[in-house]
Amino acid sequence: MSADLLIVANRLPVDRVTERDGSRGWRRSPGGLVTALEPVLRANDGTWVGWPGLAEDGDDEAYEPFEDDGMKLVPIKLDASEVEEFYEGFSNGTVWPIYHDLVAKPEFHREWWDAYVRVNRRFAERAAELAAENATVWVHDYQLQLVPQMLRELRPDLLIGFYLHIPFPPAELFLQLPWRRQLLEGLLGADLVGFQLPGGAANFVRLVRQRVGHKTHKDLVYLPDGRTVKAAAFPISIDAAGFEELAAGDGVAARVKQLREALGNPRRIFLGVDRLDYTKGIYARLRAFSELLEDGRLDVEDAVFVQVAVPSRERVEQYRILRDDIERLVGRVNGDHGRIGRPAISYLHNSVPREEMAALYRAADVMVVTPYRDGMNLVAKEYVACRLDDDGALVLSEFAGAADELRQAWLINPYDINGMKSALVEAAEADPKDLSRRMRAMRKTVRQHDVRAWADAFLAELSSIAGSSHDKQVRPARRA
Ligand code: ADP
Ligand code: G6P
Repeated sequence: MSADLLIVANRLPVDRVTERDGSRGWRRSPGGLVTALEPVLRANDGTWVGWPGLAEDGDDEAYEPFEDDGMKLVPIKLDASEVEEFYEGFSNGTVWPIYHDLVAKPEFHREWWDAYVRVNRRFAERAAELAAENATVWVHDYQLQLVPQMLRELRPDLLIGFYLHIPFPPAELFLQLPWRRQLLEGLLGADLVGFQLPGGAANFVRLVRQRVGHKTHKDLVYLPDGRTVKAAAFPISIDAAGFEELAAGDGVAARVKQLREALGNPRRIFLGVDRLDYTKGIYARLRAFSELLEDGRLDVEDAVFVQVAVPSRERVEQYRILRDDIERLVGRVNGDHGRIGRPAISYLHNSVPREEMAALYRAADVMVVTPYRDGMNLVAKEYVACRLDDDGALVLSEFAGAADELRQAWLINPYDINGMKSALVEAAEADPKDLSRRMRAMRKTVRQHDVRAWADAFLAELSSIAGSSHDKQVRPARRA
């Protein structure tokens, strides 16, 4: 197998699962990275290298390259200690909290770092074996920040792009990392380093200048070997047309009706849909909702909050604590305010199929997206794409990348519970004309800046940079 476009991400788009009857299969992986990249991979006929999740011991088939629904997938194996030290440890116990504004306390362990280096090398070596001559390799996210440099050393002929799906932090936070210089040098192996927002790109360039000592000018870094690295923002998006089509299906319309009935035909449905992650502000939003019930500004007879939380990183302690806290709160709120057949909060701890997600988006009058920090937040864009009638309200945290584009949402500060409460009420009571004006504008934005435009922009920029700094023929980016 030799690939002209290789996507390298910690997760494959599908996860290995063992069913109740012991048979093994594949299920779509959680998270925004997979939602965004899957259509890009399909459109470009690329190959995706990644980890298939927690496959059972002895399930050797899980590590053979395979095709799933037209996608060419190459699994990488992590052993149990690497899952603990590289994935749960350095990636999600050190980097994730630091890059998300210290919403949780990061831990620093030298053996976690060693595992991070080891696993990054494995990804780089596999990518080096698979990439065709002069191929484009697009490396993704915080789990693989050393791969660009490792890969460049193995295969200087390649065009290497890197994209960070989460925020890149300001210097004060990044500098806490004992391995800060190695991480910056790892990223500089790429020709193009992409970020969600211009602020992330600027943080990176400033750190490279101050801490690695390379010359920089605006968004360019000049390396001593003559190579140039560009750092720029490419805000990610969704397959907007795909979501619209899904939402327009007959099955979805019927399901919307069923959902509303099952919830007792309330006047207003509030909806939260997230991975169960402490960055998402789920607890704060449910508290705001419960206080509105206590204050009598909302009543369970006409309002319900549906919270769908997809299980995530369940063996990491902070995630377990979060789950317990949220479930305790839901129990308390329902105990205090619910009536028979009318819960205040309808809570699901589950992954739901895409059609069901589209039905929930269509059923919801107010979508509540309240992260303390989020690279983009695709759920907000998915909601907008599914509002075919230009109605519905979006309450959105200022600290989500999506807030830069979706200016017509009710923008809130998730640390300000009173502000959030007022926004929830205003959004729920807004004039239909106001809703329609806001939603029309947001739908236009999401349609114009869809995931195809995102991938095209990144790949086109990658080709043009490589054209100016490499003495080789550059292929034009293929359309996503
Ligand atoms: P993150 O990448 O941090 O998880 P995003 O909002 O960017 O956050 O992306 C989340 C993706 O996961 C979206 O595509 C959303 O549709 C999907 N998702 C979230 N919750 C669920 C769920 N309960 N079931 C299925 N998919 C979900
Ligand atoms: C976010 C990250 C992805 C990650 C996803 C799911 O979207 O940016 O890199 O894959 O969350 O998290 P998980 O730990 O299950 O891969």
